[in-house]
Amino acid sequence: APSYDYLLVDKRGESGCVGLVTLNRPKALNALSDPLMIELNSALQTLDADPTVAAIVITGSDKAFAAGADIKQMEDQQFVDCLKVNFLDHWNGITKIRKPVIAAVNGYALGGGCEVAMMCDIVLAGEKAKFGQPEIIIGTIPGSGGTQRLTKAVGKSRAMQMCLTGDMITAQQANDWGLVSSIHPPDKLVDEAIKLGERIATHSKVVVAVCKEAVNSSFELSLGEGVKFEKRLFHATFALNDRKEGMTAFVQKRKPNFTDT
Ligand code: CAA
Repeated sequence: APSYDYLLVDKRGESGCVGLVTLNRPKALNALSDPLMIELNSALQTLDADPTVAAIVITGSDKAFAAGADIKQMEDQQFVDCLKVNFLDHWNGITKIRKPVIAAVNGYALGGGCEVAMMCDIVLAGEKAKFGQPEIIIGTIPGSGGTQRLTKAVGKSRAMQMCLTGDMITAQQANDWGLVSSIHPPDKLVDEAIKLGERIATHSKVVVAVCKEAVNSSFELSLGEGVKFEKRLFHATFALNDRKEGMTAFVQKRKPNFTDT
């Protein structure tokens, strides 16, 4: 298995069906430098290609999921440097992963850390988690989807308030606002995320990928186009052995035996 400087990668859950990626740059509160993000993309791609893995969990430390893009790396960066490399464009790699990605957020998820969490498919929070888009405080704005995904997640007024003040919200607020789907005791959080991954792992991997694609299309398409796209994907599941197996198992009152075909 490849080894990483800024990540720990493991396989957990029943038969190792859940990939666990732990951001591990503790001295900088998991600040998301280019080298770290390159490793994260690579680890996610490796797990996405691993046929034994059904879902992926991304977590950080108790203190920080991630405290944002690396401010020390950016301090002396010029506009032209950003243009030349299309700075932060490669962060979108997370959204190209076809298996479900679950963020397990303990501690700070700030700036790019909040943005990475929002690029994941499901976000679970520890009771002490804090979310924020504090870029405004350091003279810039969110640069990896914060103004877009946060607005879609929590609505305009709350997103504006977070982005314009830079103030953090608590796990409780994030839960009330729908930014996360549930809150857990910090020491139970990663296990809960793995359990969720295991639950998803009981289903057909191909159908899970199709379902994720359908939900994500709602962020890009009009309602009419989205419903049409969903319908075609739904029809497409009828070309799969797992669709037949799922329905036959129901009729025969037994558990399905999916083959990911
Ligand atoms: N980049 C680089 N280093 C960071 C960092 C970051 N985003 N966040 C924390 N660190 C470093 C600190 O510089 C410090 O390093 P030293 O020990 O070398 O001084 C170390 O991590 C520990 O941090 P603190 O001493 O600040 O810890 P704290 O407990 O007092 O405060 C905190 C924690 C409130 C999270 C504070 O660190 C903080 O405000 N961090 C910056 C948060 C931020 O502004 N994030 C947005 C970044 S911009 C961005 O993300 C753009 C985008 O949209 C992609």
